[in-house]
Amino acid sequence: MTKKHKHLGFGVDIGGSGIKGAPVDLNKGKLAAERVRIPTPQPSTPEAVAEAVGQVLDHFDWDDRFGCTFPAVVQHGIVQTAANVDTSWIGVDAHELLRSKTGRPALVINDADAAGAAEVRFGAAKDHKGVVLVTTLGTGIGSALVVDGVLVPNTELGHLEIDSCDAESRAADSAREREGLSWEEWAQRLTRYYSHVEALLWPDLIVVGGGVSKKAEKWLPAVQIRTPIVPATLRNEAGIIGAALLAARS
Ligand code: BGC
Repeated sequence: MTKKHKHLGFGVDIGGSGIKGAPVDLNKGKLAAERVRIPTPQPSTPEAVAEAVGQVLDHFDWDDRFGCTFPAVVQHGIVQTAANVDTSWIGVDAHELLRSKTGRPALVINDADAAGAAEVRFGAAKDHKGVVLVTTLGTGIGSALVVDGVLVPNTELGHLEIDSCDAESRAADSAREREGLSWEEWAQRLTRYYSHVEALLWPDLIVVGGGVSKKAEKWLPAVQIRTPIVPATLRNEAGIIGAALLAARS
């Protein structure tokens, strides 16, 4: 399968527990086949993860350029941080690693940036002008800042210091689970977080993604901020779709 077929691209989403991938219809912003998921190798070393990415591509016989998310700062292909992944990734040239291990050229980008690009092109912020902030609430907090459709990469707003804490350690979905917070208690933490963010950036729209956005009706109405805030619509496919989209554009 190659991107010469119809309007296809290919996206891979590297997460802490699973590596997921699928061909993507770039006109519709939808997966063109059911995605494949394989467990993230433990330890999640660069070599082991790159091999797993190769297996996902092999499954679809994808032999062309692809996009791939990574849950850390990725600056021109170089992994710069490792908040929730194996620290051996720091300093790795992910473009070169994936190209040599899989035999296909890759664009590697931050996971939230990929999700943000997809939500702005096809999802909750489709065609929204102005300053759009897409955040993902999961193990960490990811952020994507998109201004008039142009992505400002690697904003890392999950690591703002708020009340002397790394924000994601108090407001990510993992903090809610770890501390057994009620939806109301967690919404208060999110109100604190998003109030701080909106006072710095004054976005026109905030989109909230991550698995917990599926249950947004339970907690989102209790987040009291001035900026319009809406759940993401592409759910757990946003990373795959955004990665494919950005790789096709680059
Ligand atoms: C990382 C970000 C990532 C986010 C979501 C944070 O801990 O620093 O790069 O986007 O988690 O995975």
